[in-house]
Amino acid sequence: MIPKRLNKMKLPYFFQQFLGFLAVIVLLMTITIISLVLFGRRTALNDTESRLFSYAESVIDEDLNPTQLDTIRRVLAEQEVSFFVFDDGGRILYPNLPDNFRANVDDEQLDQLKSGERISLTTHSEDLLGNPSETTLVYLPYFNENDQNFAGFITVTAPISHINRQMRELKGNLFNAFLISAIAAIFMSVIFAHYQVKRVNRLRKAAHKVAGGNYNIQLEHNKRDEIDFLTRDFNRMVIALKESQDEVFNQEERRKSFMQDAAHEMRTPLTTINGLLEGLEHDVIPENQRLRSIKLMRKETRRLIRLVNENMDYENIRSNRIILSKHHIPLAEIVEEISEQMKEIIKESSNELIVGEMEGLYVYADYDRLKQILVNLIKNALQFTQNGTIKITSKKVAEGTEIAIRDTGIGMTESQMENIWERYYKADLSRTKTKFGESGLGLAIVQQLVQLHQASITVQSEPNEGTAFTITFPDKA
Ligand SMILES: Nc1ncnc2c1ncn2[C@@H]1O[C@H](COP(=O)(O)OP(=O)(O)OP(=O)(O)O)[C@@H](O)[C@H]1O
Ligand SMILES: [Mg+2]
Repeated sequence: MIPKRLNKMKLPYFFQQFLGFLAVIVLLMTITIISLVLFGRRTALNDTESRLFSYAESVIDEDLNPTQLDTIRRVLAEQEVSFFVFDDGGRILYPNLPDNFRANVDDEQLDQLKSGERISLTTHSEDLLGNPSETTLVYLPYFNENDQNFAGFITVTAPISHINRQMRELKGNLFNAFLISAIAAIFMSVIFAHYQVKRVNRLRKAAHKVAGGNYNIQLEHNKRDEIDFLTRDFNRMVIALKESQDEVFNQEERRKSFMQDAAHEMRTPLTTINGLLEGLEHDVIPENQRLRSIKLMRKETRRLIRLVNENMDYENIRSNRIILSKHHIPLAEIVEEISEQMKEIIKESSNELIVGEMEGLYVYADYDRLKQILVNLIKNALQFTQNGTIKITSKKVAEGTEIAIRDTGIGMTESQMENIWERYYKADLSRTKTKFGESGLGLAIVQQLVQLHQASITVQSEPNEGTAFTITFPDKA
């Protein structure tokens, strides 16, 4: 958790990164240096201790012969090391010092020495002569050669100054190393922080552009770390935004053109109805034409109602507001019923309707909606075919039951086929003035209904050759 105070601080990301890197590196270096200093000091003390003990041992080896001791004394003095020999009661034997000169050992330490134990290095703020000088000293017992009884002990002392000197040297070196590393750490932190901030800023700039409406942005990334994954997700988001923006744009375009089409389509029947009503009002329509005028008004009204109904139907299907009541429907029967109902339209269209063999074939669907699908497709076939044939066939396939409606009409190009499922789309505006369709909603409704049945629909078409729509209904699960 980030502390509240830090959370409120307005620290640019660059400095957050920079300080973060730097803090870690400096902390690591500090820990290393402290460990090295402690280790160095311990090693120096250990070295001094073993050196002092070895001097003490060589003093004992010389059998405490005063002449030899003088020689050793001179040699050691060059190294600022001095030694003292005491008897078993702690009285000074060598060098020649007043009797009251004492070894500075307590009873416990004396017992330790008596039992043959050496006393390891201790540090003191004054030497044995009482001069203020930081010293280190060790005690080593010696024994009678004949009876091996405790005979006394030897103290070797050295000023602590040379350990301190060593430590100063070590600290100096470490401080230099610390300085160099700190400079390197700052340098590296700047590079790292700069690199990270650059990546974040690149995303920021891109996000800014997207916010400004530019959706053609895709950033490169290497799938290495979180920022790369964020970049990848950002790219996906931009694609999704672009798609939805395109969709909104298309919808809006279609809506606009529908409004224009609808206004256009409505104007004609409304003008007709209005004209006829005016005629009736002013009594300018002859008596024998009145009934015909009323029939014409009804026809135009029906056209308007159809336009409104189809739009509402489409919206209802699209927003899942209709419920299917599915049954096994004998295809032969329903196709027979449709062709009977459409007899007049077929006759008017100068086309021939051929129905293939359908005995024993069933489709698991909602009766009225299946009829709506087939009627729409047959109407389209009639609408875009002249003096040709429309053929309805069906067969059982692995996925269910397939129904195909083929015509020998004007067909469509590839690009027209891509759009026919869209609401209000009409491949060729000059075609819209035909008898059976005008709103461009037929196939959009068909597609929604097919989806609602979990069925599928495909189209194949060649310009001037004809069109085939194939729907496959799945069997009851
Ligand atoms: N059998 C076909 N042959 C050629 N073109 C077709 C065929 N069926 C559909 N189309 C094209 O697809 C377009 C869309 O068809 P759709 O049924 O959705 O609308 P419509 O028939 O124009 O109007 P509506 O069906 O709403 O009265 C048609 O305008 C037409 O250009
Ligand atoms: Mg149609």
